[in-house]
Amino acid sequence: MNTILITGASSGIGQASALYFAKEGWNVIAGMRHPQEDRKLNDIENIHKIKLDITQQEDIDHAYDYVMEHGGLDVLYNNAGISVKGGLESIPSEAIHSVFETDLFGPIALMQKFIPYFKNKESGVILATSSLSGLISFPYDGIYAGAKRALEGVMESLYYEMLPYHVKVKTIVPGPVNTSLKMQTYTSQTNLKPAKNLSKILIPDFNAFPEASDVAKVVYEAATSETNQFEYIVGSVANELLAQRQSEGLESFKDSLAEKIYKQ
Ligand SMILES: NC(=O)c1ccc[n+]([C@@H]2O[C@H](COP(=O)([O-])OP(=O)(O)OC[C@H]3O[C@@H](n4cnc5c(N)ncnc54)[C@H](OP(=O)(O)O)[C@@H]3O)[C@@H](O)[C@H]2O)c1
Repeated sequence: MNTILITGASSGIGQASALYFAKEGWNVIAGMRHPQEDRKLNDIENIHKIKLDITQQEDIDHAYDYVMEHGGLDVLYNNAGISVKGGLESIPSEAIHSVFETDLFGPIALMQKFIPYFKNKESGVILATSSLSGLISFPYDGIYAGAKRALEGVMESLYYEMLPYHVKVKTIVPGPVNTSLKMQTYTSQTNLKPAKNLSKILIPDFNAFPEASDVAKVVYEAATSETNQFEYIVGSVANELLAQRQSEGLESFKDSLAEKIYKQ
């Protein structure tokens, strides 16, 4: 039986992935900050909940010990994340630190703990949920974009480092997904109109958003594929914007995006 450790499994993409992998017969170790509060993953034989706040080294150490005592791991999935929105000057330092602790330093610490295990095993997959914001930056999203872009950089570098050990490293890159991602927002009157214009670009049709379960299918494909594909882009918004940026080039893409954002 294959085993996956998922962070942020209490809701959204992490929870949907836990359910999907369990249905496919995998052994799932579902990491969450408050396992006692979760009801959805209770009483499923091949799902084992553990307390894992990725900002706490003690929890990471315990998760590692748990995994080692229960037969090891095939896939490590860094999924937990939070976001913050607002003009750069308006976001308090604590909120900035919180996003970087959760979206970047936590996954780094978790991977550092498990890399020697995977190198020794000479197989396995290390996944991370990045974001469209990790590849294209939008206004009022600089902190989240900064953390996710840094995570992309870490994953891309790790891809090469793990190649000689036959360990695959991959990123899942969703555009907007229909979840309740925690997003502290710091609005100002001056950016209401551009923010509204931006929403129309990122959310052209709310009903066409991928669900967390759609992302979970892609996560499963990434975990089980024999290929070394690095990026798995999810959803039409992400696919279209990334294709547009690639075909136009950054300079032209940014000019057309700015025009749409600042139109009256
Ligand atoms: N939704 C989107 O539009 C979208 C788009 C692109 C990328 N993403 C990325 O997808 C990932 C999953 O987000 P989601 O959309 O599924 O939202 P979500 O439902 O809010 O899931 C985020 C999960 O992360 C957990 N978490 C937050 N801080 C944590 C910490 N310190 N330690 C461990 N777990 C922590 C949350 O747990 P609690 O229940 O304890 O808060 C929650 O289970 C995130 O990395 C997010 O950045 C989302």
